Amino acid sequence: MSEEIVVIEGDGIGQEVVPAAVSVLEAVGDFEFVAAEAGDAVREATGEALPQETYDAVADADATLFGAAGETAADVILPLREAVGSFVNIRPARSYPGVDAVRPETDLVFLRENTEGVYSGHEDRLSDDLSTLTRVVTTSASEQLAEFACEYVTDADADADADGFQIVHKANVMRETDGRFRDAVVDVAEAEGVETEEVLMDAFATRICLDPTQFDVVVCPNLAGDVLSDLAAGLVGGLGLLPSANVGPDNALFEPVHGTAPDIAGEGLANPAAAILSAAMLLEHLGYDDEAANVRTAVESVLEDGPRTADLGGDAGTDEVTDAIVGRLE
Ligand code: NAI
Ligand code: MG
Repeated sequence: MSEEIVVIEGDGIGQEVVPAAVSVLEAVGDFEFVAAEAGDAVREATGEALPQETYDAVADADATLFGAAGETAADVILPLREAVGSFVNIRPARSYPGVDAVRPETDLVFLRENTEGVYSGHEDRLSDDLSTLTRVVTTSASEQLAEFACEYVTDADADADADGFQIVHKANVMRETDGRFRDAVVDVAEAEGVETEEVLMDAFATRICLDPTQFDVVVCPNLAGDVLSDLAAGLVGGLGLLPSANVGPDNALFEPVHGTAPDIAGEGLANPAAAILSAAMLLEHLGYDDEAANVRTAVESVLEDGPRTADLGGDAGTDEVTDAIVGRLE
């Protein structure tokens, strides 16, 4: 192993949970870590939230581990997702034994469109009274996501034990944009012989709260995936548990779903699980399946037995939990 992994801590608890994840990667492999900067602090110092050298390093790396950026999140993470050519954001949401959860039976994966929708950056202030946003949906991006989803559910190695996937949309109202998204995804799935079920976005929010076992793999537009995965985090015990992967054809960036958590930043209280589970996704992406399984098992056993951080009702800090996880690695 000598892959080059770019490491961007960013702001707030990114500076606490990313070093935790790096220490886990160091314990299971022999990677070359390249530190890069992005976020609010860099903007304050240099005027730029995302220096060109960081963008280039991410584009050239084998993989990137990112923490979070604060106010500049959109200026950082949207271009970085572009730097890795990412067309899908994979967000698994599952509960863990030993962790108090509203819905302990939750176990699903969001496959979120990662380049367009309302996050494509076309906002305008037209007058003192009027601002507009252009929602962008292309058949090509929707099809690329759908092809990935079909491979995901038919890949025997993937976590998914699904025969098909659900498509979340709001095409009854956004007939043109979500209609295009829905049609493109359905067409690809039909051609691939993969079953789909359509679920309207608002109804999905209710159904996942009432019975999350109805869902295994959920394909959704960009904003819906952002919001609904945070909702799922609430069902399983909080944002400290959800990892994610931004995957492109030859490159990928891994980050916890959470942000900079300004309410607890700097105090050493952040739950490192989401960042460490993101590192496990990174290992899997690079082909280190055994190492990824080793990390996940260690995280699961510490979540079950403790020590736990305050968000999970414990009184341990980030370092104590990280040391316990490293100590449980095989
Ligand atoms: P947040 O995810 O930072 O925090 C929401 C709540 O969850 C807070 O109470 C926080 O303490 C808790 N939390 C989050 N991660 C945790 C962890 N690992 N351990 C324990 N508790 C945790 O979301 P919020 O407060 O809406 O946003 C804060 C800042 O983060 C904003 O400036 C936002 O722009 C940025 N952000 C950046 C993202 C990124 O860089 N990808 C993603 C989401 C938000
Ligand atoms: Mg979010």
